[in-house]
Amino acid sequence: MATKPMRVAAIGDLHVQESDVAPYRELFTEISQHADVLALCGDLTNFGKTTEAEILAEDIKSCSIPVIGVLGNHDYECGQPEKVAGILTAAGMKVLDEQAIEIDGVGFAGVKGFMGGYGRGELAPFGEPIAKLFVDEALNEARKLENQLRTLRTERSVAVLHYSPIEGTIEGEPEAIFQYLGSQRLCDPIDRFDHVKAVVHGHAHHGTYEGRTPLGKPVYNVAQFVVRPKFGRPYALIEI
Ligand SMILES: [Fe+2]
Ligand SMILES: [Fe+2]
Repeated sequence: MATKPMRVAAIGDLHVQESDVAPYRELFTEISQHADVLALCGDLTNFGKTTEAEILAEDIKSCSIPVIGVLGNHDYECGQPEKVAGILTAAGMKVLDEQAIEIDGVGFAGVKGFMGGYGRGELAPFGEPIAKLFVDEALNEARKLENQLRTLRTERSVAVLHYSPIEGTIEGEPEAIFQYLGSQRLCDPIDRFDHVKAVVHGHAHHGTYEGRTPLGKPVYNVAQFVVRPKFGRPYALIEI
């Protein structure tokens, strides 16, 4: 029996602000009619304020499909990411960080990720303790992703990130900031597990929609500012 593809709607960089009034209610209702799962790829709030999270939480309640996702760096700005995650969780969103989830036979593993660069531009864990700590953060995020992917027993899975695991989807941004847009270390676990069929991320508002990992897996930058000019709507629709 052929497996029916799952339609995953993905959007990153919602940047909900305190002054917004039901900013995503209509969109989430529309998405619920076209997709089986909604993946939110971080920067859900603009400053990580609980008031911002509460506004988004109300809109999440209008979604009739499962909502999963990760936080972004903006959701950390006020130093209370666990409160932001708690509010979104109470509204029914599954915030991924430590544990993967399975929905209708498709696995979802997710972490925020971190920066650090790619290839020749990658920061090495060398010298000052703070430089090592910085690199450790990216390694920890990659490790959490790997541990989640290892627990999945599904034939298909999606990796959900905020930062980019490859350079291909951040092209279009100034090269001088590439190392702040993601880390190649996030890519290792993705290419290690056959069941990972696609990766979605955000963060690079001026990046490129589609790229590939070294093993050829598709990576989509679903920052709404990248997706909207391409499709005329702020979310990507990906079949898994
Ligand atoms: Fe953003
Ligand atoms: Fe970001």
